[in-house]
Amino acid sequence: MMNSQFPILDRTVNGHRLVYLDNAATSLTPECVVEAIADGYRRYKANVHRGIHTLSQQATGLLEQARSRVASFINAPSADNIVFTRGTTEGINLVASTLSKSWQTGDEVVVTAMEHHSNIVPWQLAGAHLRVIPLNADGTLDLTRADELFNERTRLLAVSHVSNVLGTVNAVADLVALGHRHGVPVLVDGAQAVAHRRVDMTALDCDYYVFSAHKMYGPTGVGVLYGKSERLAAMPPYQGGGEMVDKVSFDVTTYEPAPLRFEAGTPDFIDIIALPAAIDFIEQLGFDRIGAVEQELSTRATEGLLSVEGVRLFGTAPDKDAVLSFLIGDHSSYDIGLLLDRMGIAVRTGHHCAQPLMATLGVTGTVRASFAPYNTLDDVDALIAGVRRVATMLG
Ligand code: ALA
Repeated sequence: MMNSQFPILDRTVNGHRLVYLDNAATSLTPECVVEAIADGYRRYKANVHRGIHTLSQQATGLLEQARSRVASFINAPSADNIVFTRGTTEGINLVASTLSKSWQTGDEVVVTAMEHHSNIVPWQLAGAHLRVIPLNADGTLDLTRADELFNERTRLLAVSHVSNVLGTVNAVADLVALGHRHGVPVLVDGAQAVAHRRVDMTALDCDYYVFSAHKMYGPTGVGVLYGKSERLAAMPPYQGGGEMVDKVSFDVTTYEPAPLRFEAGTPDFIDIIALPAAIDFIEQLGFDRIGAVEQELSTRATEGLLSVEGVRLFGTAPDKDAVLSFLIGDHSSYDIGLLLDRMGIAVRTGHHCAQPLMATLGVTGTVRASFAPYNTLDDVDALIAGVRRVATMLG
């Protein structure tokens, strides 16, 4: 079933079978999703929320069905909690730029030392001073003094669910409780989580949760911002334009309630309509199976990498996700990645959009192998053999 869904895996790269281990950057897209996108263009290419003609009504209906499907996938109370964005990054920028309209100079946001740039820079652009929860040596959060990071200037706690570099799975329910104990809302960056574990908005009780479709076997250009109803209701508009308004005049404009208030302009509706196919794909596989396959791959890859002389692994948290960051001695991650690419092995290299984390680790970059359920033990063995060869080549 798997390989027929991913014909890209039949490609050869540089004369070798493709071994795709860059799933944390973007997952591959199964045929069922490609077909849903093509079907959308073939049959439903009419603008949404604007037309009274049948085609437009059908496209609008499918878009709203997709919103409901996302809500049930993450156990949100209602489809109205789901705002469609361009991706995780836009979701965080949306929250930062709207909330910060009422912030003062000197207001603070608490983040963690493992955040992606997209959960750092929007808060800086919003004018916030950042307070940082540090890390333990294994890549877990050191929460011993976390309470001291909060004060009367704190406006929000922003944390990743799963680290894109270390694979650490944060205890987000505890972090949400931490933020709430200090009276601030909590935003969770779920970009690396939603394709690998069930996330439940009602159980997590977070105020905002953001993720991208392209990392969960879905189309590019679509993301989701979940917000609690009272949070979304209190937020001013993000961008101005069509469909986010109630009445417009040259003197006064009034706005739609959420979620439409945050969806100015024509959305990427064909890709949004295809998102339920990606959710179906995940749910048909099931998170138990996804977790079991990924853990088996991760365990074998960890053991194999550590058997290669000179390999240094970054991130050894218990129960971490199948994301392995490593270096061989002090060699550049780019050299290692380029040599692996010559063998058909696709990994990510560099700082992974987490330069502050790299500084904490004392490196400028790492090589990252990240796994998905269509990866196989043969892929792991190819990676280990490749790394062993590169280690010999680089000396
Ligand atoms: N955030 C993505 C990654 O970690 C792009 O690779």
